[in-house]
Amino acid sequence: MPAKRSQNSSSSVKSSPQPRQSGASARKGEPPSTSQDIRASFLRFFEERDHYRLPSSSLIPPSDDPTVLLTTAGMQQMIPYFLGRVTPPSTRLTSVQKCFRTTDIDEVGDASHLTFFEMLGNFAVGAYFKREAIAYAWELMTLVYKLPPERLFPTVHPDDDEAPGYWQEVAGIPADGITRLGDNWWGPPGASGPCGPDSEIYYDRGVEFGCGEADCAPGCDRCERYLEVWNLVFMQYYQDIDGTRTLLKQPNIDTGMGLERLTMVLQGKNSVFETDLFRPIIDKFATLAHTNYGENAEHDRSLRVIADHGRALVFLAGDGVLPSNTGRGYIFRRVLRRAVRYGRMLGLEGLFLAEAADTVIGLMKGHYEELAARRDQIVDIISTEERRFNQTLTLGMQMLTRELDALEKAGKHEVPGELAFKLYDTHGFPVELTAEVARERGMTVDRAGYDGAMLRQQEQQAKSGHIFVREQEEEAWAKVSNGLPTTRFTGYEGELGSSAIVAMLVNGKPADEVSAPQAAALVLEETPFYAEAGGQMGDHGMIGSQTGIFQVSDTQRPVPGLIVHYGTMIEGHLRVGSEVRAEVDAMRRQAIMRNHSATHLLHLALKDILGKQVHQQGSLVAPDRLRFDFNMTRPLAAEELREIDQQVNSAVLANHLVRTEIMPYQEALATGAMALFSEKYGDTVRVVTMGASKELCGGTHVAATGQIGLYLTTQEAGTAAGIRRVEALTGTGAEMFVHRRNDLVSGLAGRLQTTPDALADRVRQLQEELNEARRSLAAVQRNQAREEATRLAASPTEVNGVPLVAAVVSAPDVKTLGEMSDGIRSRLGSGVILLATENDGQAQFIVTIDDALTKRGLNAGKIAAAVAERLGGRGGGRPNSAQGGSNDARNLRATIAEAGALIA
Ligand code: SER
Repeated sequence: MPAKRSQNSSSSVKSSPQPRQSGASARKGEPPSTSQDIRASFLRFFEERDHYRLPSSSLIPPSDDPTVLLTTAGMQQMIPYFLGRVTPPSTRLTSVQKCFRTTDIDEVGDASHLTFFEMLGNFAVGAYFKREAIAYAWELMTLVYKLPPERLFPTVHPDDDEAPGYWQEVAGIPADGITRLGDNWWGPPGASGPCGPDSEIYYDRGVEFGCGEADCAPGCDRCERYLEVWNLVFMQYYQDIDGTRTLLKQPNIDTGMGLERLTMVLQGKNSVFETDLFRPIIDKFATLAHTNYGENAEHDRSLRVIADHGRALVFLAGDGVLPSNTGRGYIFRRVLRRAVRYGRMLGLEGLFLAEAADTVIGLMKGHYEELAARRDQIVDIISTEERRFNQTLTLGMQMLTRELDALEKAGKHEVPGELAFKLYDTHGFPVELTAEVARERGMTVDRAGYDGAMLRQQEQQAKSGHIFVREQEEEAWAKVSNGLPTTRFTGYEGELGSSAIVAMLVNGKPADEVSAPQAAALVLEETPFYAEAGGQMGDHGMIGSQTGIFQVSDTQRPVPGLIVHYGTMIEGHLRVGSEVRAEVDAMRRQAIMRNHSATHLLHLALKDILGKQVHQQGSLVAPDRLRFDFNMTRPLAAEELREIDQQVNSAVLANHLVRTEIMPYQEALATGAMALFSEKYGDTVRVVTMGASKELCGGTHVAATGQIGLYLTTQEAGTAAGIRRVEALTGTGAEMFVHRRNDLVSGLAGRLQTTPDALADRVRQLQEELNEARRSLAAVQRNQAREEATRLAASPTEVNGVPLVAAVVSAPDVKTLGEMSDGIRSRLGSGVILLATENDGQAQFIVTIDDALTKRGLNAGKIAAAVAERLGGRGGGRPNSAQGGSNDARNLRATIAEAGALIA
């Protein structure tokens, strides 16, 4: 497959391979031609050779694999098998895996690069190695897919002296016909993991696609003649984070072939976008854009980009990836935004990606049933984000254009990193987009500066406790755990156990002994401690023996199969090998169990009351509360919340027994059990049933729903676009909440000299009294103002023969000033009236002049402006009426006293 790391120092040794003659005897019948048949015949071929078919895992990797954001290869769900941590259902496996890679995103739009793609794979966990893998691949390619052998070119790693011999044996290809490539090395997919040399099969598309150079061969990066279609990886090493490689317990096989590329070859097309996997999507977008594919090279490229991105978004949303500013949510956002931008180049506006979602679903639902089942949700997620980005795009683009203009004027060619970050942070403008727009003007972006700004923000967040980094430790565990068996969890049955310590880390490094007061992380052979998973928090408690006591403050599963107890030695010492007693904090665990069981009842109630389209998007099960996120585009009504509480509480009162069963995944789904689509499930699953609720779940639960006690929703709010969050309490937590509310109500009633039942009436009565008091006060103030107006009207001064009343009066607002001014005018007749007032250190004033005087050239607006200027504020208006004010009333009295001079 295209994304590959050059993990090896050996240089490429390239030479033109010799042309070959066809030799294989063909099998009867036509090769499969539709993508559906190609997929099916791959799986059938390996099933016929005793391979067990695994369903594609989710694009969201299992939560215990922290090293990758999205599933990038078929081998990812096999890692625990390769490392010997989990026993596979068979040592021969096959799958068609949904994959997503960002590595090639800039190349998407050419003939063969994609973000989302399907990977056909066969895997051997020690069952066979190079020879068989090569033989299977050759047989399938030449006899089932009937590709002409003379067009197939294998490559091998320069240090691999075995593979060329097998290619000769199986396919009759001599050693000098095989290209040795330094980058024929695959993995690990994350920071650490399994890896090994590989052998790749290239398909020769023909000289017409070549560069014509003498050394043109598979791996040539000048032309598109040789297309890499299948990668056979000889997974025999484990590589840790510092690059050290150790041999795995057994050598494994991991192969991956891109369905889209194979289909392109078998359907004789010039690009993956012309195959039946893409053509309907391309045509849909072309119709929306009122164009045709194949008319304009520029448009075609945009159509290919949005076809890839649009399809990828459907699969991402279908697996529960939601747009956000971090991690895989950011990938979703970035892909959507890139697609919108390419869409605009085609004149596509509005919600075109959401509109095309049904085309993608219709095309793919045959093999990926989940797409049809989650159709509404997929469209909802895409359209919400698309709408949102459309709004900000216009704004951000304007800002970027302005900034680029300014940079250009200043003769600069680099966009400062801080600016790129600001665009991202405040306008949601991805840095890749900034770079693309900049590139169109021949400018670059200071990526280091951008990364620096991003890092500073992340550090800021980490400091405030948002991110908990335990990466280094994960590495240490990955190393330590290589020889350890899977930790057995005994905590479903109880909270006590005895076991032996099998490994420990002190200061993040493997150790043999830990003494008080050191912090450490311990692994036991078996444990009743539940490791955080599925939203349920890890257990607390004690681990101890005669020699010492370790206090557990968290339990996690940093690498698959390993339960790790984090905490501190509070007394004595413990050694690896010590027999210990493990004791979970039972009160805390019971509180967690109540909340977890309540979460299931809540989930069902939400579906029953709000509709089947409601899906869980996340949850937190803590001892003191539970939190549940689900998809919904509007706030819940009070009656709905009440109904939800009632349904949960009646299930509690019914005291249903909580039953758990282990059964095959498919069977569990058939019983109607609810599964979370962001979760990866194994072949056998645990089904938890309580009354009408039935969910796949590995968590710990109460024995009967009556133990949950009171259930109480305490909050409902929106978190992200299209996601609502409910917080709730159970058991004693809910009781305490009710008591606190009760105390509050009683306290308030006491203060207001009434009873809790009469509190509402009392408050209403007090509000009426308050309003009445306000009304009386205003009447008194108006009376006072009238009297003051009469007084002022009686003694005007004169400026050049014009009567003037200028005074600072007490008035609560401008409206009262206006009323006073009217009062003065009716007594004064012609004249200039300037009234000001001061409240809370701020000045307000009005100026009025009768029409006769305005005709003589006097102007209230100009006077207001002049007064305001002296006050350091603002003022203005019409010739006969104007007003103004200032935040600083210190000069007010002096200014009004000098009003005569000002007007003169
Ligand atoms: N892991 C290899 C790849 O992704 C083969 O499956 O190419």
